[in-house]
Amino acid sequence: MAKTQIRFICRNCAHEHLQWWGQCAGCGESGTLEEVTVARASMPPPRSGEGGRVEAQRLRDVNLDDFKRWPTGISELDRVLGSTPHEGVNLSGVVPGSIVLLAGDPGIGKSTLLTQAADNISQVVGPVLYVSGEESAQQIRSRSKRLGISSPDVFVLNETDIDMLDTAIENTRPNVVVVDSIQTMRAVDSTGAPGSVAQVRACADRFLRTAKTLGCAVFLVGHVNKEGAIAGPRVLEHTVDAVLQFEGDRSQAYRILRAVKNRFGSTNEIGVFEMGGMGLTPVENPSALLLSERHGNEPGSVVTATLEGTRPLLVEVQALVAPSHLTQPRRSTTGLDYNRATMVLAVLEKRVGIRLGAQDIFLNVAGGVKVTEPGVDLAVALATAGSRADLAVNPETVVLGEVGLSGEVRAVPHAERRLQEAARLGFRSAVIPSRNARSLKENGTELPGMKITAVSTVREAVELTFGS
Ligand code: TYD
Ligand code: MG
Repeated sequence: MAKTQIRFICRNCAHEHLQWWGQCAGCGESGTLEEVTVARASMPPPRSGEGGRVEAQRLRDVNLDDFKRWPTGISELDRVLGSTPHEGVNLSGVVPGSIVLLAGDPGIGKSTLLTQAADNISQVVGPVLYVSGEESAQQIRSRSKRLGISSPDVFVLNETDIDMLDTAIENTRPNVVVVDSIQTMRAVDSTGAPGSVAQVRACADRFLRTAKTLGCAVFLVGHVNKEGAIAGPRVLEHTVDAVLQFEGDRSQAYRILRAVKNRFGSTNEIGVFEMGGMGLTPVENPSALLLSERHGNEPGSVVTATLEGTRPLLVEVQALVAPSHLTQPRRSTTGLDYNRATMVLAVLEKRVGIRLGAQDIFLNVAGGVKVTEPGVDLAVALATAGSRADLAVNPETVVLGEVGLSGEVRAVPHAERRLQEAARLGFRSAVIPSRNARSLKENGTELPGMKITAVSTVREAVELTFGS
C-alpha cells in the first residue's frame, strides 16, 4: 500500500500546509484549512533520458495541424471557449482532452447550458456522457424534452461514485463527459464528505487522467455559494484548463458567461444568453436587448458603453435622488461598485457643488448587468446630477469617462470601439473625455452622424449637458 501523509489545504486558495493553523498562510482567511490525506512521494522517480539526448523543439516548428476543437453549437459558449485558426477557418469550441469548469450560483442555468451543449456536440463528434449526482435520469430527460433535445448519442447516468463512473466511461467511450456537479462526486479511497477539499481534489485528478488518456473533453459543474466558499471551484482552478463563470441575476433573463482562466483562449471574451422557456438562447446583440426597455426622456437615465473583454456593451445607468427622512441618508448600488459610486457622489458634491447630503441615492444598471470598470463613472455622475435637478439627458447621447478625485474626467480605453457600437445602435451624440476626443481626431476616426462633446472635468460635463 502506498504510504500516505496528512496535509492541510486551504479551501479558499488551495495553499498547502504541513500542520493545522487557524489562519491560512496563503490568503489569510481564518478557519479554511481542511485535512487531506495525500500519497507520499517516496524516492524520486528515475529520470528518463538521463545520459541520452533530449532535444527541445523550436516553438515555431510545433505542429498545430492536429490541434482540434469541437464546436458546442452554442455560438456564445464557443466564443468564450476560444478559437484557433485551422485549415484556413477559425475553429471555435472545446479542445479534446481538456477540462473545463463551469462555475456559478445554484439555479443560474449551468445544467441547462451543458444539456444543450451535450446535444449539439453529440451530433458532431459522437457519444456524450452526462453524469449527474444531483438529478435522476428522469429529471434530466424531462428537462431535455422541454429543450427539444433528441440526439441518440447523449447518454445519462445518475452516479456519484467515481469508480462506477470510470466503468461507465469505459463502456460508453464518450468523447465528451459532463459532470454535474463535482461537489457531488465521491472517490472511495479519499477521506472527507463529497464537496470537501480532499474529495474535490481527488475527483478532479481522476477526471484529469481520464481526459488526458482518453482524449475526451470534460465539463465539470461547480457550485459557488454566496461567499464563493465551497471547496470546489478555488481548489479546482489550478487543475482545470479553463474556468468559466456563469453570472447574472436569477430574477432577470440575462446571463453572462465569462472566462476567468483559459489555457486555450482569451479571458477577455464574454458570452451573453437569455433564459427562456426553451432554455438558454445566445444573444448576439446584447446592447440592443439591454436598451430595449428604456423609456427615453427620463431624468436620471444615462447610457454608457462599457467594454466586456473586446466587446462593447451599451448599458443604461439609472439614478434616483430623493429627499431623505433619515439622519443617515441611504446610498445603494445595484450592478455598480459601491465604493466607486460613492466616490463619484463625493466628487459631485465637492467639485461641482451639487448638494447631495440630505438625499437618498439609488444607483442601478438596468438589466441585471454588473459593470466594474471605471469608464462608467461619468455616466453615474450625469445620471445623479440629472435626477437631482430633474433634468433629462438627451436619450440619443452616450456618455464615457472615468472620474478622478479632483473632478477631472480621464480617458477610457478603446473609446473608438465603444462609440462605433453606440453609433451602430443609433446614438447621435457622445460626451467623452477630451483626451479620447483628441486621439480620435489624430487617428482620423470617422463616426458619421455623431456629435462629439469633449469634456475634461465633471463640472464641464454637467454644465454642457444640462446647460447650467
Ligand atoms: P438549471 O440549469 O437547473 O440551473 P443550475 O444547474 O445552474 O442550478 O436551471 C436554472 C433555472 O432555469 C431553473 O430555475 C429553471 C429555469 N429554466 C428556464 O427558465 N427555462 C428552461 O428551459 C430551463 C431548462 C430552465
Ligand atoms: Mg444543475
